[in-house]
Amino acid sequence: MQQLANKRILLGITGGIAAYKAAELVRILKKAGADVRVVMTSGAMEFITPLTLQALSGNTVHHALLDSEAEAGMGHIELAKWADLLLIAPASANFISRLSQGMGDDLLTTISLATDAPLALAPAMNQAMWRDPITQDNIGHLIDIKGSKLYMFGPAEGSQACGDTGPGRMLEPAEIALAAADLFETGLLSGQHVVITAGPTREALDPVRYISNHSSGKMGYAMAIAARDAGARVTLISGPVNLPAPDRVQVIDVVSAREMLEASLAQLDDCDIFIASAAVADYRPLNVANQKIKKSGETIELTLVKNPDIISTVASHQPRPFSIGFAAETQDLDTYARRKLNEKNLDMIIANDVSLADIGFNSDQNAVTVFWAESQQAFEPRSKSSLAGDLMELIAHQFQQYRKDKAATSSQEQE
Ligand code: C5P
Repeated sequence: MQQLANKRILLGITGGIAAYKAAELVRILKKAGADVRVVMTSGAMEFITPLTLQALSGNTVHHALLDSEAEAGMGHIELAKWADLLLIAPASANFISRLSQGMGDDLLTTISLATDAPLALAPAMNQAMWRDPITQDNIGHLIDIKGSKLYMFGPAEGSQACGDTGPGRMLEPAEIALAAADLFETGLLSGQHVVITAGPTREALDPVRYISNHSSGKMGYAMAIAARDAGARVTLISGPVNLPAPDRVQVIDVVSAREMLEASLAQLDDCDIFIASAAVADYRPLNVANQKIKKSGETIELTLVKNPDIISTVASHQPRPFSIGFAAETQDLDTYARRKLNEKNLDMIIANDVSLADIGFNSDQNAVTVFWAESQQAFEPRSKSSLAGDLMELIAHQFQQYRKDKAATSSQEQE
């Protein structure tokens, strides 16, 4: 169910005994990495409490349509826009009927009308209610008008809470979650955790001054968005930049190189790919003055000490993620990039020639050559976001190869 990572599932719960199974469904969806928000009808709240679903989803449960406080938080239109999938489980006969008539008399029907997201219904009702021609007619009508935007998950056949046997049982929560996952494509990096450093670092001299560089963070942020779009869970460890936090990416803000190292190491127990795009200050002041340094003579002496090399530390860590560095060079790109690839124990290095005008540091364009042990590939100038997408495809391909090679080596060792 890796397809569910980062997906936004709006779960509608309507009134029926199967509502209690929605709690398990929320748990499974969350475990698969989905972000789940719950909307309940009044009937649903007779069977299961909002508090249970709030605790399991980690989000406030929505219920009222005409509640100014709730609307001020996340209103019905916002919820409708937020969802990648509106999943209604259980969907009662009454709810299906109201939906097929286009009613908007409570929060869930209103969201159903307002959303552009696909709608999946997991019906649950007594077998006679399911078989009733009116229910069947309502479902037929919904299928006709919603077309490819409507998915029916079940119902299953079997013994029912009321003692009857027949069609109308809600699918089991695990089956519903699998059916929901099948609606989404599997990205190249589905299920992988990608950690990316970005931006500059700032090394304090005193409370008001620091040493830094001109890195904008644009390339690292574009890489984070590309990794997310390839299905990965992404953590972006960012130095101070003027960029908005990308949607569905966990951003950890840091200032200095040592903070960036600490934040990076904290991710390594559970990191598949580490991409170091940050322009880390190589040196920091030996002493940081407690008070603002006063103007005095014509010259001032600063003693700088070397900062830790973050990507080298990560690449020599156990467990070791697939490690990728960047290299900004002004001459002999191939030689210096390959030297860094070896010296820093990297799997890949993305090198750009910063002596060329219009590409690199603060620009929106970039052109790079990627080196790895066996080969290299050049990418012509293009926007950083389009370049990031192409780079992520190459990274995913090399990463899969690396995984295969590692699995082959460990099975040979066991023989
Ligand atoms: O050695 P150089 O600074 O050219 O190497 C650049 C690469 O190493 C980049 O990937 C950068 O993010 C990373 N780096 C690092 N920690 C440092 C210096 C550079 O992770 N202290």
